[in-house]
Amino acid sequence: MTPPRFFALIPAAGAGARMGAECPKQYMPLAGKLMLMHVLDTFAFSPKIAHTFVVVSAEDGYIEEALSGAKHLDDRVTVIFEGGATRHQSVLNGLMAMRDQVADGDWVLVHDAARPGLTDGLIDRLIEAVQSDEVGGLLALPVVDTLKRGDAEGRVQATVARDSLWAAQTPQMFRYALLRRALEQAREVTDEASAIEALGLRPKLVEGSPRNFKVTLPHDVALAELHLKGDA
Ligand code: CTP
Ligand code: MG
Repeated sequence: MTPPRFFALIPAAGAGARMGAECPKQYMPLAGKLMLMHVLDTFAFSPKIAHTFVVVSAEDGYIEEALSGAKHLDDRVTVIFEGGATRHQSVLNGLMAMRDQVADGDWVLVHDAARPGLTDGLIDRLIEAVQSDEVGGLLALPVVDTLKRGDAEGRVQATVARDSLWAAQTPQMFRYALLRRALEQAREVTDEASAIEALGLRPKLVEGSPRNFKVTLPHDVALAELHLKGDA
């Protein structure tokens, strides 16, 4: 039996509404390179990753130009113009589109285009920790803040014990067939792990990094650039 391979799947079909930029946020320049290109380069330069698939909207008017200036990605990245109405649907469309190139037992690392701070070292850490696991796993960070549940009036209803709480990041890494089945069966979920959990399985938590945060709001841009410039 051939050993399982590792594929990256990048959902990049969002509108970036909360960022409110002129273009979808994955196409914003950060530290001299488009946000999505940081992510594609990180996977392309990671020797463990066999190939990267990126899902963009059918109307995407940015990706072709972005890739035309990145010849080194030609045989390493495939663009799928089948974004869905939600992240969940975009990932599922990507899994369907890649089916002929991937075996059921291959691993898929799903990673948000909006997390440009991912590093080769974090990819390695996730793969090392999860590749012999039955279920799969994800990068996540233990929560450090004290957490409050608010009520409708904006007052504290309860303090939530943070002892065992983690904030989920990506990549989230599961075997192709299991992931596809989980996402096909799940109600709308915001990450892959939730769909796997809905099958009664328990994904492994692997410590991520603060630099791998999701760039969501305008004030996130400066911090993302600080991390990315520090790499250069
Ligand atoms: N995404 C996607 N398809 C969608 C929605 C989101 O592929 N229909 C992708 C985004 O491009 C992003 C990732 O999922 O890489 C995480 O989503 P998020 O940070 O919420 O990005 P947006 O949905 O673009 O932003 P917003 O929610 O502010 O509109
Ligand atoms: Mg969104």
